[in-house]
Amino acid sequence: MIDKAIVGTRIAMLRKDLGYSQSAFAEKLNVSAQAVSKWETGLALPDIEVLLNISWLSSTSLHTLLEGEDFMVPQNGVDRGLLYVSRHLVCPKCRCSLELCVPTKGDKLSFICDNGHQYDVVDGVVYFGSREIEGELWSLWLRNYEHYLEEQRHPGNPRYWQGNPHYRELMWRKIERLRPRVILDMACGTGSGIKYMIERINWPVTVIMTDLSHRILKWNRIFYSGEWKNPYVDMVYLACDCANLPLADHCVDVVFSNGGFESMQNKMMDGFAEGYRVLKPGAHAVYNISVVEDFQSENTQKWIQLCTELASGRYFGPDKMNDIKQWIQKCEKIGYCNHEAAKVYGELPAPLDDIFPFENEIFQWMAEYVVVSQK
Ligand SMILES: C[S@@+](CC[C@H](N)C(=O)[O-])C[C@H]1O[C@@H](n2cnc3c(N)ncnc32)[C@H](O)[C@@H]1O
Ligand SMILES: [Zn+2]
Repeated sequence: MIDKAIVGTRIAMLRKDLGYSQSAFAEKLNVSAQAVSKWETGLALPDIEVLLNISWLSSTSLHTLLEGEDFMVPQNGVDRGLLYVSRHLVCPKCRCSLELCVPTKGDKLSFICDNGHQYDVVDGVVYFGSREIEGELWSLWLRNYEHYLEEQRHPGNPRYWQGNPHYRELMWRKIERLRPRVILDMACGTGSGIKYMIERINWPVTVIMTDLSHRILKWNRIFYSGEWKNPYVDMVYLACDCANLPLADHCVDVVFSNGGFESMQNKMMDGFAEGYRVLKPGAHAVYNISVVEDFQSENTQKWIQLCTELASGRYFGPDKMNDIKQWIQKCEKIGYCNHEAAKVYGELPAPLDDIFPFENEIFQWMAEYVVVSQK
């Protein structure tokens, strides 16, 4: 959404550069001095005709007036989404801001910080040197792009299609009301969660997909700029560790995670805190989370025993299990507030014997909530 306060500050700056007092500027624009004061204090936006006049007087494009920079015009082959996000990229090694380096003579497009750390854009993905989690069943499963497409086109495969579409609809309704300008998808994988949102978005949005896996992002880029393209949505791909995001503080309107935080395994809470850091004040995290109904119950204890035996506690060790109240307390420790938690489905009864019907139920036995937490 357009931030009235920021636009107001920009107008005040341009007015001062032009050498006008508020009343002289008002006279030039044929509006009242109160109107100028209202814009500059973020209470209102100028009418479109007036905005056009301000743009003309200050030789500033409408996009720069409203969004700070005219990223609409692709520069040297850099697309609009990346150009927009490049304003907020920081070096994950030293936290300095990153500068876009336009290629000369066949070099790759890249980003570089003041300390000389360089990150290339490889196959349209900004590559921060991350590696997939060793032995991850999920990433090993997608053998090649053909296989990736098969998965995307047949989303009935229970192996990855966790839960039912109902929770995506809950997430969508929240996002639709928030109308964010920038959405960050944490540990996006193939983006089965964000796909539902991308299909429906009908306002200008930049979606930043982040994942350890460069390979998956490369395929996502082909898929989401072809078969799944939505012209309202600019897609940006960052291959990085979400526990150390290459993004500046306060630059994202919605942090989205569809099982992404949990996929980060032992870095889950670091990822959740990073999401908080990059959110603008007052902005929201929209995510789903698996919780237990009651830690002490016989059912939970049986599942814990099975998980510990079958997956060495790798996915959801008892230390990582919460009921929804405990989870909210953890959120509050990080700084999030005003939580809305909606239960999507309850816990599965544990099998009577000691064998999992499907290995993947390791991921699916817990109750599921959609949570919205505010910064
Ligand atoms: C099953 S996907 C998550 C589901 C996905 N969000 C979706 O909606 O389809 C798991 C992904 O988490 C990623 N991942 C795990 N740890 C990560 C980390 N520290 N930073 C970024 N991505 C991570 C893996 O590379 C993998 O692609
Ligand atoms: Zn650096």
